Amino acid sequence: MAQITPAQQLFDLSGEVVLVTGASSGLGRRFARVLAAHGAKVVAAARRVDRLAELAGEQEGIAPLALDVTAPEGFSAALEEAERHFGPLTLLVNNAGIASGKRILDTAEEEWAAVQRTNVEAVWHLSRAFAGRLIARQSPGAIINIASLVAEKVGVSSAAYAVSKAAVLHMTKAQALEWARHGIRVNAICPGFIASEMTDGYLSSPAGQDMISRIPQRRAGDPSDLDGVILLLASSRASGFMTGAALRVDGGHALA
Ligand SMILES: NC(=O)c1ccc[n+]([C@@H]2O[C@H](COP(=O)([O-])OP(=O)(O)OC[C@H]3O[C@@H](n4cnc5c(N)ncnc54)[C@H](OP(=O)(O)O)[C@@H]3O)[C@@H](O)[C@H]2O)c1
Repeated sequence: MAQITPAQQLFDLSGEVVLVTGASSGLGRRFARVLAAHGAKVVAAARRVDRLAELAGEQEGIAPLALDVTAPEGFSAALEEAERHFGPLTLLVNNAGIASGKRILDTAEEEWAAVQRTNVEAVWHLSRAFAGRLIARQSPGAIINIASLVAEKVGVSSAAYAVSKAAVLHMTKAQALEWARHGIRVNAICPGFIASEMTDGYLSSPAGQDMISRIPQRRAGDPSDLDGVILLLASSRASGFMTGAALRVDGGHALA
């Protein structure tokens, strides 16, 4: 029988080199901090580099990287630049995303396109570039895609966003299936409503408060509510046999 690994070792990420997109705020910033606190080296990417520099100054093991995820032509160079900080990447967290809170007939073409470019096409292109590098050097690794509760449960006024996150969920399964033979695990996190720049305005509005009253746990999440799940999926010791999974973290919202 395999030995029992103490929790501290199970979630020790020493030796992992992670690229987190959308690390300038909200969930991504928290992911970068939690992963670094457990021994990983983290390249924190986003467009607002002033915020990334602040984050890197606050915590050891984090380096900033300017990256616009809607510009895939720059991904290859960005990955090379990322690897100049801490060496070859082993984990990609596709977290960057934008929301859209309009009904279908009110969603302008450009808004639809921007949501799909940021939330779907970026995950497609960056994952391909990342996995291609790992496969070329025959190294194992992992990808964590940040989907959403609405990938499975649609609501009024979030169609463009919900469709994009459903695509991320399906992409997670397709990537997991194709890249398992190369030792690359691909999993998704489906958060419910979590306080962040993306959601703060809505959550504090009367409509948001009404929605919160219908979440079984009667609260929105905090980015720290995802600490356990990001560590689980990042650690090949803890989740080495998991791939193609989607973990919902929503206070029971999907059940209501
Ligand atoms: N908060 C929630 O309730 C919730 C629920 C489910 C899923 N999610 C998902 O979780 C992820 C993070 O959301 P959040 O709540 O933390 O929102 P947030 O605070 O608004 O953060 C979004 C992040 O994405 C980055 N980003 C946006 N467009 C980008 C672009 N073109 N290139 C590079 N980076 C870009 C932003 O950085 P810059 O602006 O500096 O580039 C920022 O760091 C998103 O994928 C979101 O859909 C959030």
